[in-house]
Amino acid sequence: MTDFEQKKTRAGQLRKELNYHIYRYYVENENDIEDYEYDMLMRELDSIEKEYPELLTSDSPTHRVGGRADGLFETVLHTVKMESLQDAFSHDEVRDFNKRVKDVFSNAEYVVEPKIDGLSVSLEYVNGVFTRGSTRGDGVQGEDITANLRTVKSIPLRLKKDIPFIEVRGEVYMPRHEFMRLNEERAEKGEAEFANPRNAAAGSLRQLDPQVTAKRSLSFFAYNVGNGALEKHSDSLAMLKGYGFKVSENYKVVANIEEAIKFIEDFDAKRRSLAYDTDGAVIKVNAVYQQRILGATGKDPRWAIAFKFPPEQAETTLEDIVWRVGRTGVLTPTAVLTPVKLSGSVVSR
Ligand code: IVH
Repeated sequence: MTDFEQKKTRAGQLRKELNYHIYRYYVENENDIEDYEYDMLMRELDSIEKEYPELLTSDSPTHRVGGRADGLFETVLHTVKMESLQDAFSHDEVRDFNKRVKDVFSNAEYVVEPKIDGLSVSLEYVNGVFTRGSTRGDGVQGEDITANLRTVKSIPLRLKKDIPFIEVRGEVYMPRHEFMRLNEERAEKGEAEFANPRNAAAGSLRQLDPQVTAKRSLSFFAYNVGNGALEKHSDSLAMLKGYGFKVSENYKVVANIEEAIKFIEDFDAKRRSLAYDTDGAVIKVNAVYQQRILGATGKDPRWAIAFKFPPEQAETTLEDIVWRVGRTGVLTPTAVLTPVKLSGSVVSR
């Protein structure tokens, strides 16, 4: 075997091994390798790719960060429209939704899922490799943010199965602890703090420089298939998990709407202890043929609804207002509060 052939084999092994560890850590929250060992593997792969640039592949973990967008993001036309959801603010509005569904399909069953408070994106995979990712935009046209999405480590660069094509949809979000860390860092630098994790995630995804996005530790939950869905939505979720995506563990298939409402109440009690913000629960008709027949009214599908939890409020005392002077002389005020518990985290600024 020539040196090139040996290195080619080794590069393949390293990519596989590193992508496995990234999956274990960022999707399964497990760690079975020391940081040092991981860094050594990464360095070995990097040095092979530098010696033989032709061995660099687009799913290589060494190149999650790269390629700065100059000026504007390109427009992406969504082949399958990215719909939004009709909101329900009471259990009765959820029951009305059920009535409309049951008028057409008396046997409809539902899937209930957490509604993650982030930004919806579409991810395209050709022959198992991540090729393009885009924002929802107006549902018809979005922006190509592939370079930024590549930096999100829970988004697989290669699926566990080499299927010809699939379009996966889901939510990019910023975990709460990362949001706090980022805001502390910004306050120290005299930069304006983000109002909530959702805004912080949005700001991070629209960076022209992926190096900035990469530093923000965003994460991703898959919740739908745009193109290539199975007969039941619940089967699609299981399939996505099998492909290597992070799928919420807090979803449930239910036989009727009262069970869905019960699930939502139970979920409300525990959602504050999750590492990320949720602003409701989404109820979806499970059978895809029923979804197709139910169709959509204007921009919202008739087969799904978003139950929204009321925003959390708490009372506290304003202790002080601190002014910070940014590098460019911009003044930013920060309210210092008596610490108060909100959504499972302590708010003090
Ligand atoms: S399904 C047609 N499932 O909520 C179905 N959306 O208010 C479209 N969202 O634009 C989306 N968690 O950004 C779905 N489990 C979930 C979700 C979810 C969060 C967001 C998504 C969507 C918005 C609609």
